[in-house]
Amino acid sequence: MQKGDLLYEGKAKSVYRTENEGVVLMEFRDDITAFDGGKKDSLETKGCVNARVSASLFRLLMEHGIPTHFIELLQDRFMRVRALNMIPLEVIVRNVAAGSMSRNYPIAEGTPLNPPVIVIDYKDDSRHDPMLNDDLIIALKILTPEELTRVRDIALRVNSILMQFFSSLGITLVDFKLEFGKADGEIMLGDEISMDSMRLWDKRTGESLDKDVYRFSKGDVMEVYRRVAEKICAGEG
Ligand SMILES: Nc1ncnc2c1ncn2[C@@H]1O[C@H](COP(=O)(O)OP(=O)(O)OP(=O)(O)O)[C@@H](O)[C@H]1O
Ligand SMILES: [Mg+2]
Repeated sequence: MQKGDLLYEGKAKSVYRTENEGVVLMEFRDDITAFDGGKKDSLETKGCVNARVSASLFRLLMEHGIPTHFIELLQDRFMRVRALNMIPLEVIVRNVAAGSMSRNYPIAEGTPLNPPVIVIDYKDDSRHDPMLNDDLIIALKILTPEELTRVRDIALRVNSILMQFFSSLGITLVDFKLEFGKADGEIMLGDEISMDSMRLWDKRTGESLDKDVYRFSKGDVMEVYRRVAEKICAGEG
């Protein structure tokens, strides 16, 4: 697989063209950021670990019929994915109140949310990703009402699958962020699903097993990431 021109360099990943117009290479770099880029570091092997975890979770979702951009994991930190026209939304699914939800609203961290809460933010760093609602999403012509229903439906199905999977590993899936895109008119899941994009708590101890370890300097980030990746990827070849 030929690595072509750099199409986009984000805060943690880079996207490259390939010889096939419908396929891009996604590089998971070792960079980690938090607080809108206010905290930045490079953690050796992080890219590789997150690429493996993402691949593993995309495979799991695809086995359950979820449409995703995932094609294959290449050596090290590269993933071949369908080239998507990204939808500028961050679709967040919450099963337990935490983070900004408890900061912004009167609900204690750790409060279970049943049914799960979907929050959709406008993905625009310069505007600090403001929260949207259904009417705004339609007024801004980001999605049609039918597409929005589809996005919500996929997000909830992904939640059920991942919640069950993590539960079987002794982990609570507190919340996570998804990004969607379109290829040939079809909406599918893109980007990544990793410890950078999920909030995971050890069921027994309540310990954070995700980027909060980095955000709030709770310990050795890579030790935690490696430990979680080990569990997620166990049973894979
Ligand atoms: N299948 C895909 N095709 C094209 N672009 C994709 C695909 N999947 C994800 N992307 C985009 O690739 C970029 C990945 O880079 P990265 O996540 O590092 O940056 P970012 O999202 O701009 O910043 P951040 O996530 O740190 O706010 C994102 O813009 C994401 O929307
Ligand atoms: Mg991103």
